[in-house]
Amino acid sequence: MTIRIMGTGSYLPENIVTNDDLAKIMDTSDEWIASRTGIRKRHLVKEETTAQMSAKAAKQALKEAGLKAEELDLIIVGTLSGDYVTPSTACEVQAMIGADKAVAFDVNAACSGFMFAMNTAYAFIQSGIYQNALVIGAEILSRLMDWNDRSTCVLFGDGAGAAVVTADEKGLLGFVQGSDGTKGMVLACKNRLNNNPLIKNSVEPDHVFMDGQEVYKFAVSTVPASIQAVLEEAGLEVSDIKYFLLHQANIRIIQSVAKRLKADINRFPTTLEHCGNISAASVPILLDEVNKKGMLQRGDKLVMAGFGAGLTWSAAVIEW
Ligand code: UT7
Repeated sequence: MTIRIMGTGSYLPENIVTNDDLAKIMDTSDEWIASRTGIRKRHLVKEETTAQMSAKAAKQALKEAGLKAEELDLIIVGTLSGDYVTPSTACEVQAMIGADKAVAFDVNAACSGFMFAMNTAYAFIQSGIYQNALVIGAEILSRLMDWNDRSTCVLFGDGAGAAVVTADEKGLLGFVQGSDGTKGMVLACKNRLNNNPLIKNSVEPDHVFMDGQEVYKFAVSTVPASIQAVLEEAGLEVSDIKYFLLHQANIRIIQSVAKRLKADINRFPTTLEHCGNISAASVPILLDEVNKKGMLQRGDKLVMAGFGAGLTWSAAVIEW
């Protein structure tokens, strides 16, 4: 028994911020951002919450899957930017969509969050514990940025993507994932400061710090290696795969992976031009866009891959 994706959904905030908009408030330019990353604009929340965006994406995915919220056994949200430390975003979503029978919790694996959440759902379904799961990646990264640090704040965006997965004979054909906590500080965001008056308070800032070049080097070596490993596990070749749906961090990383795999870049659809990097939400939003554009037929084989803070990485092969 494995899992099959039965429906997808996504939500992007209404407020769009272009590179030129950013150039008005900091020392940057459309030319620098677009040429270094491929990003031209991003959606940044004004009103929406992580849970509201997740619920909107979830409703679309349930509709396509033909499943009622009450039929869900499990909701897992991959996020590092939930609205509350507790309750989890997944519990908020459960209440918002009325999935009263579902067990709900979050997974924090940064940009691999949706993939780790999907593998967790797979483990529950494969073992026969649950049948129907809602897997979401959702982030409001704009509230974790240092808006004085042009090297990070121009890269990220906000949004949510969702997939409904159910027990099936076919679907997920292979999965690899990994973590390396020893390199955690190359991409980090400290939690809120300790306000206990009895101790000396830390003054470390609580916003995202990234050593971009270290993350870049990690990505261009680990992503192709994990894709090769998952293809081997599934007994497939690069040529068997219709599309490679990669975490959307930087077009140069995607081009490098395509080159290493000797695969045509046209088989790597992107959203980063209009979304930027939305961490855990990148892969499910991309999957939903590809699905909604009618680019997928039943039987197509796809690779999905996430990588990011932790460090964490993951790759899956699915049959659509
Ligand atoms: O989702 C998590 C995964 N994250 C990633 O995969 C990110 C991986 N890393 C990257 O994508 C790239 O390293 C970046 C896009 C973050 C940076 O690109 P880079 O080619 O490594 O640039 P750099 O950091 O070496 O900076 C080059 C120059 C510097 O100026 P100097 O020191 O050469 O004078 C920066 O100060 O570009 C400057 N710079 C900027 N200039 C204009 C940095 N940010 C900006 C900016 N606008 N926004």
